[in-house]
Amino acid sequence: MPAFISRRSFFSHAGATAAVLPAVGYSRVLGANDRLRIASVGCGGKGWSDLTSTAACPKVSVAALCDIDESAQFLGRAAEKYPVASRQTDWRKLFDQAKSFDAVIVSTPDHMHAPVSLAAMALGKHVQCQKPLTHTVREARQMRLAANRHKVVTQMGNQIQSHKAYRTAVAMVHQGAIGKVKEVHSWQSGAMGWILADDRPAGGQAVPEGVHWNEWLGVAPERPYQPKIYHSFNWRAWQDFSNGQLGDFGCHILDPVFMALKLTAPTSVMAEAAPMNREVWYRKSKVRYEFPGTDLTAGPSVAVTWHDGAGHLPDLAALGLPAGFKLPGSGSILSGEKGMLLIPHVAMPRLLPEERFKDAKVPEVEARDHYVSWALACLGEDKATSNFDYSGPLTETVLLGTIAIRHPGATLRWNHATMKLSGAPDAGRWLTKPYRKGWEPAWI
Ligand SMILES: NC(=O)c1ccc[n+]([C@@H]2O[C@H](COP(=O)([O-])OP(=O)(O)OC[C@H]3O[C@@H](n4cnc5c(N)ncnc54)[C@H](O)[C@@H]3O)[C@@H](O)[C@H]2O)c1
Repeated sequence: MPAFISRRSFFSHAGATAAVLPAVGYSRVLGANDRLRIASVGCGGKGWSDLTSTAACPKVSVAALCDIDESAQFLGRAAEKYPVASRQTDWRKLFDQAKSFDAVIVSTPDHMHAPVSLAAMALGKHVQCQKPLTHTVREARQMRLAANRHKVVTQMGNQIQSHKAYRTAVAMVHQGAIGKVKEVHSWQSGAMGWILADDRPAGGQAVPEGVHWNEWLGVAPERPYQPKIYHSFNWRAWQDFSNGQLGDFGCHILDPVFMALKLTAPTSVMAEAAPMNREVWYRKSKVRYEFPGTDLTAGPSVAVTWHDGAGHLPDLAALGLPAGFKLPGSGSILSGEKGMLLIPHVAMPRLLPEERFKDAKVPEVEARDHYVSWALACLGEDKATSNFDYSGPLTETVLLGTIAIRHPGATLRWNHATMKLSGAPDAGRWLTKPYRKGWEPAWI
């Protein structure tokens, strides 16, 4: 085993890498013998696994279910599994019965994450919210501030953070496996899994019985219902509801980079991409972030470059890898003073060049249960590693990249403290967005 890894210190350090809880006052947290009563907002799609994985904790009971689609695939399936739970199709009505639950899981499309989560936190509810945490940078900042103000236990649903592969990768960097890190490339080269359109279809169609389209739209501008292209899953294509490929995968793939290097906020971001379409997201991008250096990086700053789009991988020569080297479809490479760490999404990390590290033994850091650990944290018995103090800044970073994609070629400068984005005439306007009248979030 090389000098940089001693099994004992590896494990103890790995535990220490977990981001600490925000300043949670446990006075309002339930006692250890109580059950956590959860409400699920968005019970189909990823919400199904968020709900069932959290409810697998014996100290959790499912109190309430809310979904805008009453059919068997969505609310129906959850209601069948949890027949005692109350049912709603509008989360605002669910929140009128706030005494019936302690914590909320938010698994809606991205544009509704912040409005639902902010309202839940204002009621003093603990929140587990899907990734990316929000649709805009301002919302991400608000989520972090709200979590601290209301002293609730929070977690973003980037569950791969708790997988042994990502936990091992973070610990290896902290242990000095590749020395101080000089540069990072991350990528997602898979084809976009959603319907690719250039514009919305003309007109609208009748909303099926049991689908509550006004509630699905929520804060987004009104548009007529069309089957399949928005609800479900395909909302990812559209700017009103999502942030494209970087928004979809950035909070997963950049997560171990962010945690390993203890990154906070970029100082600048620059993108290469085709001009933006009016309605839908881009198909391919390269986004270069510059971050202040940390005790894990080699210089006063460190560059992290994101690549996405079908078949779009980083250049092997630029990575210092031999021609023919097979990169995984998505992942990251951290180039350090002593070697490189390849972090596939999602598989165990590999030290490169292989010849140099052929005798290195990489002890695995055990996985955690992302969902159950949040539930136990709500009960005061564990820590949530992707709490909003951590996942808020990670999401801000990801979303700043999506603003740079709107201004290809411009170097945007970011002042984290004042939330000022400069470098293109109207870049700052994308930090927030207009909200549909009557649906404005309750900002703090
Ligand atoms: N962590 C992961 O690995 C992972 C994987 C997939 C999706 N996600 C995230 O999960 C979220 C949902 O994605 P999806 O693919 O499941 O989408 P989806 O459209 O398939 O499912 C969304 C669910 O929410 C319901 N819903 C929509 N709007 C609602 C509202 N206003 N109130 C209540 N219910 C509402 C829908 O009916 C459906 O049940 C997204 O934020 C996505 O980025 C995360």
